Parts: sequence; structure tokens; C-alpha cells
Amino acid sequence: MSKLYNVAVVGATGAVGNEMVKILEEREFPVRNLKLLASERSLGKYIEFKGENIPVEVLSENSFKGVEIGLFSAGGSVSQKYAPIAASDGCVVIDNTSAFRMEPDIPLVVPEVNPEEIAHYKNRGIIANPNCSTIQMVVVLKPIYDAVGIVRVVVSTYQAVSGTGKKAIEELAEQTRALLTFGEIKPKVYPHQIAFNCLPHIDVFLENGYTREEMKMVNETKKIMKDPNIAVSATTVRVPVFYGHSESVNVETKKKITAAEVRALLEKAPGVCVVDNPAQNEYPLAIYAAGRDETFVGRIREDLSIERGINMWIVADNVRKGAALNAVQIAEILIQKYL
Ligand code: A2P
Repeated sequence: MSKLYNVAVVGATGAVGNEMVKILEEREFPVRNLKLLASERSLGKYIEFKGENIPVEVLSENSFKGVEIGLFSAGGSVSQKYAPIAASDGCVVIDNTSAFRMEPDIPLVVPEVNPEEIAHYKNRGIIANPNCSTIQMVVVLKPIYDAVGIVRVVVSTYQAVSGTGKKAIEELAEQTRALLTFGEIKPKVYPHQIAFNCLPHIDVFLENGYTREEMKMVNETKKIMKDPNIAVSATTVRVPVFYGHSESVNVETKKKITAAEVRALLEKAPGVCVVDNPAQNEYPLAIYAAGRDETFVGRIREDLSIERGINMWIVADNVRKGAALNAVQIAEILIQKYL
């Protein structure tokens, strides 16, 4: 029988943590023992895994003894504190927060793009899972980069509320219900009404006028693609969609490539599904990407405003490929090759 692993999910009651548990089961990850960790607020809760109700435990410094793989998605401050503790107990941490992503000795991995980086988990016992919007973009950029090089990327995102977590999902549902029944709303999670609105504001504003989410896309793309010279300009927008981030992406390539050539490249690309049949009104849509593993790309066309440009519309389930699935894929490679 193949080896089994003790796995912990930190933030198991959250939007991403819950999906991690589901994906471990769906993909038959070889789990010996699954530990579900959250805050004291979740004490008394159970989460089902392989037909068994597993009690949620309160995260503590002693949670990681005997745990071999820890999937963390309980926020940056929890990871800052507990990921090094877990790593010192011999647990390899796959961290979904932004806490360690830009640290030079921590690998930042998208399995379709830079799986070889997983080998560097040994540096600190931590592997970082990139930002959701970055993951789906680089999965599509990588084959184009390898074929013709990339000079510059301009991206505008249309991001679902599930990226903010469970409370934001509830806020969109509650505001929608209230507004359709002439009720009052009081924004809590977001600074403004999110129902029937678009907020050009994700994460905090920085001194340079960009938001931290936008700068994550800029910096993480360069790190994952191992090319600090790719110029990236991002505008990130929260939209009233529950699941599935959409992105308008304009790529300036080094060498000329046609839309047909890009389509052919992407049809062979791992993890990518081309949906590009405008004559039949077929293009990627968040409602169809939700619950799916692939990153969908369509509206592939040449940019008429520059000499070597390609425009695309990229959509993926932000909670799955953008977070939980990407983390479990990293864990799969980790156990196949390194543990
Ligand atoms: P809890 O449900 O007990 O608050 P989301 O991103 O959907 O809001 O989920 C965040 C996840 O992180 C939840 O599982 C939440 O647990 C967990 N979490 C948040 N803060 C802490 C903390 N200080 N210690 C442990 N888990 C935490």
C-alpha cells in the first residue's frame, strides 16, 4: 500500500479551508489522519470527510506534532505565527496567505508553471500558494511566454466575493435580498455596498496609489515566471459575483504571435480549457467556471492598438484553482517527489 500522510487544514471552517477538505477527498489524497483546525469560535463544529464527521479543533502551538503536511488558510497573521511553529515540528506548510509569498527563500508555486520550485520547500519548510488572481493569469501566460516571450501585461480583474471569505459571501447574499425587498443595508465587510456595484478596491491602498492586491499581481507574476523584467499593470475590482474571478488580460509579446497560434498553444496547455466561439456566444463565464478545476480562456484576439499584442478573457474558480486546488496539487507533487 502506498504511504499515507497526516494532514492538517488550518482555517478548515472557512471558504477556502472547506474546499481544501473537499478536494483532498475528491482527489483521493493519501490521508492517514486529517486534523481540522480553526479558532475557538468553531469549537463543537464538525466537518465531513470521507463519510466521517471530524471535530474541529482549536489551533494551538501543539497542533502540529506528528503532522506531515499543513494546508494553511486562516489569514496572514495566523500563518505568520503558526507556519514556522508547524515547520519546526517537521510539518511542510503550504500557505495560502500572502505572509511569505515574496520571501526569496520561500517557493511560490503554480504546479503548471514552476513545479520544480517545490524542491526548495527544504529552505524553511514552507511553500507559498500565490494570490488567486495571479494563479489563473500565469497558468495562461506561461505557454505564451515560452513560445514568444512577454514584455508587458495589463490586467483588469472582476473578482468574486468568495475571495474575501465566508462573511463576504453572506454580505452579498444579504445585501441582494435586502435591496430587492426595499430593505436597508449596512456594509460591513466592504467599505461600500457590493450588491449591484463594482468596487475598484481590493485589500489596502498603498503609497504608490495601487492596492496591495494589484501589487501582489505585479510582484508574484515576476517571481513565478522567474522574469523580473515582465512589466505588469493591474487594476483589481470586486464585483457582485459569488464564485469565479474573471480577468481582461492584454499581453504584449516579444515576438509576433497570431490569435490562432495562441489558441493552438493554449489548447495543449496543462490546466487550461479554451472556450472561444463567439459566433455561438461561447466564452468563459464565472457561473460555469465555479466548481471546476480548469482555468478557462476565450475572447482570444490580436490587440489592434499595438504591433505584438494579444487580448484574452480568463476565468477560474478562485476558491478552487485560485486557492484550495492549487495547494492540494502542490501537496501531490510534494509527496510524489520529495516526502
Ligand atoms: P473560525 O471559523 O473559527 O473563525 P474565511 O476566509 O472564510 O473567513 O475563513 C477564515 C478561516 O480562518 C476560518 O476557518 C477561521 O476560523 C480561521 N481563523 C481565523 N482566525 C483564526 C485564528 N486566530 N486561529 C485559528 N483559526 C482562525
